[in-house]
Amino acid sequence: MGEPIVIALDGTSASGKSTNAKLVAKALGYTYVDTGAMYRSLAWYCLKKGVVLDNEKAIASLCRRWKTELRNENGHVRLYVDGYYPEKEIRTAETSAAVPSVAAVPGVRKWMKARQRDCTRFGNLVMEGRDIGSNVFPDTEYKFYLDASLDERAKRRAADGVDENLAERDKRDSQRAAAPLMIPLGARVINNSDMTSKETSTLIINEVLERLEAAG
Ligand code: DC
Repeated sequence: MGEPIVIALDGTSASGKSTNAKLVAKALGYTYVDTGAMYRSLAWYCLKKGVVLDNEKAIASLCRRWKTELRNENGHVRLYVDGYYPEKEIRTAETSAAVPSVAAVPGVRKWMKARQRDCTRFGNLVMEGRDIGSNVFPDTEYKFYLDASLDERAKRRAADGVDENLAERDKRDSQRAAAPLMIPLGARVINNSDMTSKETSTLIINEVLERLEAAG
């Protein structure tokens, strides 16, 4: 058997990464990895442990020490912390506001990259994030970058009941020094402002299948 295939799905906030990554993973029988959830978990853990968010050293130190385990549950990889998966806690407004600070710490990104690369032990992957095609799996042949207009993305977030400053989040994600959000080299860019998730995921699936066939 060859190396596991990794489909890297990067893009701006609320560009449909999660929905499409799950649809693609399901259609192809690949394992889904939400790397944003991993950063969110660390942000939640920092808040829980009272680590001050402008203290990079303290954040990196906590990241080196926390007790975690990656588990594959029904095709979705989850990062357990002290034997617990903080599913609800990582989606609160408080955690969302804290993530960019945590995600900007170089030591954290190094730790996350190693864990994310380790996910290939679960087989073929669809991995979503901000730096998957540029930094975590730069050699994968299957890179996609999703985007949509700010208006459309704000509508999608509002429909999910989330009020968030997307422009500010994108700015922080794009301007940080460590592994910033960018269009990875060789990525297929899909602006899905006027597309349904069915259309977007079908486009990705067909392109992957075509390339797999061409690769033999
Ligand atoms: O996709 P999300 O909204 O759950 O991501 C949460 C935050 O984590 C977001 O501010 C960007 C950051 N992130 C990152 O820096 N790198 C990743 N690979 C995934 C997410």
